[in-house]
Amino acid sequence: MKSGRLVFTTDFAALKDCDVHFICVGTPQTKGSLAADMTYVNAALDAVAPHAKPGSLVVGKSTVPVGTAQRLHDRLKKVSPQADLAWNPEFLREGFAVEDTLRPNRLVVGVTNDSSENILKEVYKDLLAANIPWIRADLPTAELVKVAANSFLATKISFINAMAEVCEAANGDVTVLAQAIGHDPRIGSRFLQAGIGFGGGCLPKDIRAFMARADELGARQALEFLREIDSINLRARQRMIELVRADLSEDLKGKKIAVLGAAFKPDSDDVRDSPALDIASQIHSAGADVIVHDPKAIENARARFPRLGFAQSIEECVKDADLVLHLTEWKEYRALDPVAVKKLVKNAIVIDGRNHLDREKWLAAGWKFRALGRTHHN
Ligand code: UGA
Repeated sequence: MKSGRLVFTTDFAALKDCDVHFICVGTPQTKGSLAADMTYVNAALDAVAPHAKPGSLVVGKSTVPVGTAQRLHDRLKKVSPQADLAWNPEFLREGFAVEDTLRPNRLVVGVTNDSSENILKEVYKDLLAANIPWIRADLPTAELVKVAANSFLATKISFINAMAEVCEAANGDVTVLAQAIGHDPRIGSRFLQAGIGFGGGCLPKDIRAFMARADELGARQALEFLREIDSINLRARQRMIELVRADLSEDLKGKKIAVLGAAFKPDSDDVRDSPALDIASQIHSAGADVIVHDPKAIENARARFPRLGFAQSIEECVKDADLVLHLTEWKEYRALDPVAVKKLVKNAIVIDGRNHLDREKWLAAGWKFRALGRTHHN
């Protein structure tokens, strides 16, 4: 910003000298439907189009239903026939956005001609020099790469959570199973962490929007499995609540439950579609007195679920608890000393919803230890 090369403005007229325009707005799930809400993307394109000078390139980054890029391309051409449109999906993870921008594992560009590709090669010159794989695609393929990648990740998580269900039924241990299959490089060990499943502003809405779009395209059957991926994911939350009920003789009324974690994943303050808060609010609705702690997400959580109790410290959260739930795997929670925590609670029962606590340590300290997909030894 000091160099004057980074400027922020809300004035669209400032775009008139720009060579490249990136559209990065959100595409949340539409209320009452599985489809993505395209209001923001459409508005952004309409705002940019009159200011796109001849030879300039409008580049979409938003995650959109396949076919959007072509539609926006035609819409742009009507207003500024000499400008062009390309699609360049991003694969940034929340909490690692800078890292993933500076060192992406691939660049995907959907273009309709060489000159648009060349403009993007200029934009990403340094990354190309660093040999980051460059994939040129047509517009629909570039759009599909993004939703296909997120669907694959969601599938991997739901796969291991399905295995967790089977392990529970067969007295197996899903953490050992995941470790063992993960050694096969064709499978890989990442995204095989069983627990209460995926949330956030991306995976859940992206698989739903993908199903809705496939339906419109007459390819419903091809993505029917994603419905099951979604169900397995939501079922994990219910299985967690069943464990809570089982340990509190089914009656949650007046029980004090300490919830460790509110964010949809650690190192983020994002609570959109957070499995942790969904579970916390369902337990609260069943009559329990729920106190939530999170290192970063308390304010966002309070704004969405004002009726829940919140604690600023872990000690305050677990004080006199009938049960402790571990729902977001912040490193602070793994570092807890179960001997010290035991002195604060009323009942030493912990349920690990992320399979991330050191079970042996908690058992040795005299806790009843529960986890999804693992046999209960006490
Ligand atoms: C995800 C993708 O990982 C990014 O590549 C993509 O760019 C981004 O969505 C997006 O579409 O913008 P993000 O939502 O930040 O990124 O979160 P992830 O790290 O993918 O985690 C998603 C959820 O899966 C979290 O709730 C996490 O707790 C859960 N998860 C992850 C598991 O339950 N088990 C695992 O093994 C891994």
